Amino acid sequence: MNRDEVQEYIKERYPGFTVKSKKTIPCRNSRIFMLDLCKGPIQDKIVVKISRNYQPSEVALEFANLSRFYYGCKDEAFSSPQPLFVDAEKGILAMRYVQGVNLAHMLHEIRPVSLPYLNGAVDLSGMALAKFHRLFRQGENEPISIDYTAPEDDINRFLAESQERMGECNLKTMVTPFFDFTSWNIIIKNNRSKRGMMLYLIDFPRRDYVCTPHLDLARFRFGLELVKQFPPAKFFGLNRWDADSLFDRFLSSYCREMHVVLNQDDLWLIARARLANIRRAQDLTRKGRYGLQPKLEQAYLQTFSRQWLDQGDVFSKWPRMGLAEKA
Ligand SMILES: Nc1ncnc2c1ncn2[C@@H]1O[C@H](COP(=O)(O)OP(=O)(O)O)[C@@H](O)[C@H]1O
Ligand SMILES: [Mg+2]
Repeated sequence: MNRDEVQEYIKERYPGFTVKSKKTIPCRNSRIFMLDLCKGPIQDKIVVKISRNYQPSEVALEFANLSRFYYGCKDEAFSSPQPLFVDAEKGILAMRYVQGVNLAHMLHEIRPVSLPYLNGAVDLSGMALAKFHRLFRQGENEPISIDYTAPEDDINRFLAESQERMGECNLKTMVTPFFDFTSWNIIIKNNRSKRGMMLYLIDFPRRDYVCTPHLDLARFRFGLELVKQFPPAKFFGLNRWDADSLFDRFLSSYCREMHVVLNQDDLWLIARARLANIRRAQDLTRKGRYGLQPKLEQAYLQTFSRQWLDQGDVFSKWPRMGLAEKA
């Protein structure tokens, strides 16, 4: 569907409304259309997300998960865009537009913010992930299920190698993983609350996996490291933010909300899942051609991930042993 077709489609969905297409963003897995709707005094901004290479069931599940979080999460500090409708056969998902800045843009220094503000956003990210995990909790003894037909060899290898450790972890809950819990899928909006900001999660999971929460924790960590490899974040002001410190904050905030203190086995699992993420991202055939992220990842991987992977042991570079000892 092109821009005009989307506009026509929405006009049919919302009879009597004038529909103006404002902006189109081609992304890695989707095209995002931002539209203004107007009928007399009623004005609305909506986002229509059209998936690429989708299975209708995946689009339906993304909508169901977005709805489950939106209606289940009654928190004044974080939420998600309000779900509007889904047309799974056509790969269309519609939600309300949320104003704000992508956390990745703050980290990349494209939209620089002060360090206290960034810290606040990262604290909220940890809380939001904990909330997601509480809402998408599975039984503690629920067997792990990652779709073996999906191209997720690295994740599956991580799970197979981690079985023994899982029993020793303090973080025992099984969850439906968010899967792509990175700063690209977090939008932060300024407001007048005590925290001065509100967080929105976007891009909800499209698969019904059951896994340990460590996978999402590691994915966030990997996302921070990824951003850190590129200018301007890499060069401007040198220590404006630091991946280790931000991740420590994120993890502390998450653990506080989950009422859990991580042990050495938990940290091992996160470190191992981080390696799985690095390997997974190396597999360029699974990436689309669109958007900033795949291009960044590709460039980054050529220079950095080889060196990391060659270090062998999962604890190389992270987690710092200090943190492990404290735990
Ligand atoms: N409800 C929304 N309000 C404002 N911007 C949005 C909304 N949904 C998506 N976006 C923008 O579109 C981008 C891609 O959306 P996302 O759901 O993450 O798609 P993809 O699955 O392709 O990553 C986001 O990074 C964000 O900038
Ligand atoms: Mg996304």
